[in-house]
Amino acid sequence: MTDATMRLAYISHREETKMSQQTGVRADDSYSGRQPTSHERRAGLPWDASYLDGPAPWDTGQPQPAILRPAGEGAFAGAVLGAGCGTGENALYIASLGLHVLGVDVAETALSIARKKAAGRGIDADFLVADACHLDRLDRVFETVLDCGLFHTFDSAERRDYVASLASVTGRGGDLYVLCFSDVGPDTGPHPISQEELRAAFKRSSGWSIASISPDRCQTRFDAQGAPAWLAKIERI
Ligand SMILES: C[S@@+](CC[C@H](N)C(=O)[O-])C[C@H]1O[C@@H](n2cnc3c(N)ncnc32)[C@H](O)[C@@H]1O
Repeated sequence: MTDATMRLAYISHREETKMSQQTGVRADDSYSGRQPTSHERRAGLPWDASYLDGPAPWDTGQPQPAILRPAGEGAFAGAVLGAGCGTGENALYIASLGLHVLGVDVAETALSIARKKAAGRGIDADFLVADACHLDRLDRVFETVLDCGLFHTFDSAERRDYVASLASVTGRGGDLYVLCFSDVGPDTGPHPISQEELRAAFKRSSGWSIASISPDRCQTRFDAQGAPAWLAKIERI
């Protein structure tokens, strides 16, 4: 699938959601008192709307293979935070390994789906509405943090807040894994990120040290091969 086609699919998903709002299927489009993110301002809809009419384009119903690999190598340890966890496939997989996982998201509908999946699969994991740019409000510390598809949705001002917010809840020596669309190769995803942008965001003066950035893939519902992505391992210093 080309970049243009995937963008169209995203837009069409958004338009379908807007239509269901107009027909009254969705009654409440509030942002629950928080500022809309840059993505929500561009879309003209809260993130929650993406989850109302069937699976969102990124919601493949499975953990991302790019996350399964480090998980299988023991990358996730201690208390794990899933930032922008959506309907929780990655968080649930990590929890199924016996780790304590908290998934946070601004989309209550996604979290409610995640909770139902956890109950249906007999997996112990917690899901909570929280703004990833204000994680200090959780008053918690995690050993490992996973961001699958959130970082690349933020503009540069939000990235600064997000990076500081992540630092506030990641214990020193802890690891953050970021899977985001990359700008390398054909058919890039809708928010391609360069290695330089990752390095600029997670600089030492912000409390982070990049351990590795590897080319990988991020699957979508339209492309099982996945779009080009970076898997970054970033240490809290
Ligand atoms: C592209 S989706 C990825 C979802 C999930 N990680 C996955 O891989 O299926 C981005 C997710 O981040 C959430 N999100 C966006 N901005 C957020 C914020 N400021 N705080 C918490 N979650 C946010 C959205 O609601 C959405 O579920």
